Amino acid sequence: MNGARPVIIAGNWKMNTTPDTAGGLAADIAAATTVQGVVRVICPPFVCLRAVREALQGTDVEVGAQNVHWEPAGAFTGEISAQMLVGLADWSIVGHSERRRDQGEDDVMIGRKIVRCMEAGLRPILCVGEQLDEREQGRAEATVRGQLDATIAEVRRLGIDLPSNLVIAYEPVWAIGTGKTARGSDAATMAQAIRTVLAENAVDAARIPVLYGGSVTSAAIDEFLNEPDIDGALVGGASLKVDEMAGIVARAGITAQARSGAAAGAA
Ligand code: PGA
Repeated sequence: MNGARPVIIAGNWKMNTTPDTAGGLAADIAAATTVQGVVRVICPPFVCLRAVREALQGTDVEVGAQNVHWEPAGAFTGEISAQMLVGLADWSIVGHSERRRDQGEDDVMIGRKIVRCMEAGLRPILCVGEQLDEREQGRAEATVRGQLDATIAEVRRLGIDLPSNLVIAYEPVWAIGTGKTARGSDAATMAQAIRTVLAENAVDAARIPVLYGGSVTSAAIDEFLNEPDIDGALVGGASLKVDEMAGIVARAGITAQARSGAAAGAA
């Protein structure tokens, strides 16, 4: 079943690198991660997109933004619209928990961002995930379901079907930047819950990649990629380190190969 879905490793550089340093780092990562069958995406800060795009020319590493605004244009000082990214990025992260926390983004705004991405031809990576107290109180799945339901409802309210090229990143908030990862089995259970919600919303859930994010390193990636329901990772801190990305993508390549072999065998 999961042979139908790509294995994806996306690096979220957050507020790191400058236009002077980003291209070199991106080129080094591209050169260190030439592994068959893994979709690689680098998401640098907006001002580094052009440098990264130029540095990655001639490679098949794709470029993503970290955010887009929920409106197409207008009086939104300091913001960046999806249309502004055409030609600079192929993907955009939306709904990252740091933006939910620091910019007060809610699921309605995030639903609109997905629509803006679709209009601009950007492939959205929608981040969902629970807080620590929600997990401790047994409400992790209910929280993620609530995020997805509200986001999808807003997309639908605008008269649009959820994009078939959507990617979901399950990122438990307590695991982001803390060095503490979820258990692979818990992430897989959540990925199944996510696909249940997608299927309820008439989305071809079996085709939607679900990534894990939160303190992923080359040492920690294994238990997530061992789970058939997890299709890769959204990597923060470790995505700024060439050796770490080399290790993570190499491990993802083993999964990609195994899954495409299994899919071919089943066909
Ligand atoms: P981290 O960040 O890998 O540094 O925990 C992941 C993310 O925020 O996407």
